[in-house]
Amino acid sequence: MTNSEPKFRFSAKAGRTTTQPISSLIDLAVQNRNVISLAAGLVDEQTLPVGEVRKLTERILSDELSGQKALQYGTTPGLIELREAVIRHVCELDGVSAEDMSITPDNVIIGSGSQQLLYIITDILVDPGDIVITEWPSYFVYTGLLTSLGASVRAVEMDNDGMSIKSLKNTLEELKRSGDLGRVKIVYLCDYYQNPTGITLSPERREELLEVVRSYSTEHRICILEDAAYRELSCEGRAPRSIKSYEPNNTMVVLAQTFSKSFSPGLKTGFSILPDELSEAVLDQKSCHDFGSSNFAQHLILRAIRSGDYAGHVEVLRRRYMDKRDAMLTSLRENLGDFEPEQTSWTTPGGGLYVYLTLPERIDTGPNGNLFKAALSEGVVYVPGEYCYGPDPRRRPERNHMRLTFATVDEQSIHEGIARLRRAIRSLTDGNYRPAGAGFARKVEQA
Ligand SMILES: Cc1ncc(COP(=O)(O)O)c(C=O)c1O
Repeated sequence: MTNSEPKFRFSAKAGRTTTQPISSLIDLAVQNRNVISLAAGLVDEQTLPVGEVRKLTERILSDELSGQKALQYGTTPGLIELREAVIRHVCELDGVSAEDMSITPDNVIIGSGSQQLLYIITDILVDPGDIVITEWPSYFVYTGLLTSLGASVRAVEMDNDGMSIKSLKNTLEELKRSGDLGRVKIVYLCDYYQNPTGITLSPERREELLEVVRSYSTEHRICILEDAAYRELSCEGRAPRSIKSYEPNNTMVVLAQTFSKSFSPGLKTGFSILPDELSEAVLDQKSCHDFGSSNFAQHLILRAIRSGDYAGHVEVLRRRYMDKRDAMLTSLRENLGDFEPEQTSWTTPGGGLYVYLTLPERIDTGPNGNLFKAALSEGVVYVPGEYCYGPDPRRRPERNHMRLTFATVDEQSIHEGIARLRRAIRSLTDGNYRPAGAGFARKVEQA
């Protein structure tokens, strides 16, 4: 091809869309088997339900009729029996009835993963220049999607109880004062064992959040997009009720969940429960995307739910991830408990797959920083925190955090990975470790 040949002219949206930086981190770990990846956002491969899926697949295909039904196209909203099962499942998790939430199977849409639904829901509400409120930090695939759609982000502080209601109110009030409230379309939050921090929105804040967003829905209704991807992976008792479950008339909250984390990401099947007003618009878009998610996967998941295999598997996962979480927390205490205790801390997730580590501000955890390079040469990778801060024009991404996952590697590698991380930190900051003492005790408390 010569230089004078015309080139494709890409859309503005394609120009705004970039590859997720985490892909290259996962590649790094995959290419080099000696590297321990505390970065990859995959589930624990050893726990994937191979036997159950084999059995259920055989059942589907053991009779011509059921095999043909599953191998045919499905409908755009998804298999009706699965949508009914989803309602029963969510009602059981929330301890309320479908009538309490004013939902029917018409309010349920099955997606090709919950990611597709997060995308479509945002796409039908947000024009370039509109505002989406997120947590700070937030799930980087979602904030990447916001960049792609040309949305502007306003991020709200979090603490150990999740999104700060005070900071949310202040943000909304500021936007009202500047005349920008009309551009606010969505408040997005990952409210269970958040990706990346592992933090869960406390039960006390859930209803309040709903009320605050409702009170600012004056020019139009602001949607609360509740991403509950990790909800079922609780290690400590029952996870709190969803924000959705506090809404009796089903008008503002979209609940997005997935079977990826709790059963198998390879089936890439998720669901959302939406207000009537949004369902039709989402279905119109979904019919342009794929006019229905994998019908076979839906038949399989329906059978897993009906047979009890799904519930049994979730129990296995919860125990497994609890052991791995504990291994990571113990390792962090042992390896970093004596490192600048006033400025080093980590979260203690009640479930999910992630721990968020905060280091002193002068330590740059970014992909081009010295720590990332040192960690790589020690043979460990993490997700730099700076990827997790959406494009909020008022703020700069924070650079002294990292997301660590305990999901993909076994306990021994978790311990080894954290020991390598300590060595990497030490190689940059030698002399700043103190013998475990008062600082260590404080760290345990923080953790
Ligand atoms: C917070 C969060 N939401 C949604 C998803 C999407 O998952 P899936 O599309 O597989 O349902 C993920 C996947 O990692 C996630 O971390």
